[in-house]
Amino acid sequence: MIVAGSRSQVLASRIAKESGEKLACVEYKNFPDGERLVKVPEIKRSEKATIVASTPDDKSWIELLQLIDACSNFSKIDLIIPYMGYSRQDKRFEKGEAISARAVSKSVRNVDSVTTINLHEDSVLKWFDCNTQNLDASPVLASYFNSVSPAVLAPDEGAIELAEKFASEIGGDSDYLEKKRLSGDKIEIKPKFLDIENRDVIIIDDIISTGGTMSEAIEILKDQEASSVKIACVHPVFANNAILRLFSRGVENIVTTDTLETALSKISVASLILNSIKS
Ligand code: R5P
Repeated sequence: MIVAGSRSQVLASRIAKESGEKLACVEYKNFPDGERLVKVPEIKRSEKATIVASTPDDKSWIELLQLIDACSNFSKIDLIIPYMGYSRQDKRFEKGEAISARAVSKSVRNVDSVTTINLHEDSVLKWFDCNTQNLDASPVLASYFNSVSPAVLAPDEGAIELAEKFASEIGGDSDYLEKKRLSGDKIEIKPKFLDIENRDVIIIDDIISTGGTMSEAIEILKDQEASSVKIACVHPVFANNAILRLFSRGVENIVTTDTLETALSKISVASLILNSIKS
């Protein structure tokens, strides 16, 4: 049976449809004081549950913990967290801070496996108390594009592996934007190796949150006379006015997956998840 968190209803339905598995009609409700309660319909004891629940916020994390509890009668629980919120705080950046990724991972108990997709740092998986895997959605994302030999750019060095994988799928070359200090108050940002003048460029990152990183990248590439700039990302967090920030900078298209369900989530990771569960 496929059991969805409220933020993964479309993806869970797609997985159920593709696999032919039953889809639980989970109910989600709020008490007057704001507390959340989920209800998973009665199921046979022997059944296996696949919980699909992205956790972009506190509410969805609490829901996920309740879904696991509600499924405790199942013989096996596989947990899919397509987008795992709090995973970016994977260490203490300042003294006294919580390691949020560790805190939330350790709260997940009594599941047989955890599957994530393009976790910002896959070292986070070590905090789960079961088998884990981190899937890469860049090949599925690349399948959407039919640009001829584009330049695939990571907005910073941290995303270069993603850009390389994406470029190898699509048949383009890859690079990242490098910040160079020219003098005390002058910084130059440009692709480390590629000349992108008159080239079609795709910028790829794991997450777009406020859109700040991508907006800066778009502006730089436009200044350097790229013929077109498109954006691809795995996790469309799109905080505040991120979408407007990007389109108002002149980006041609934004393509993302359904790890989070937005109007721009055109690429489904359902098959990627299903294949990984089967294997
Ligand atoms: C950070 O290292 C991530 O890879 C993304 O670049 C970051 O989360 C994007 O955030 P924002 O959209 O707020 O600039």
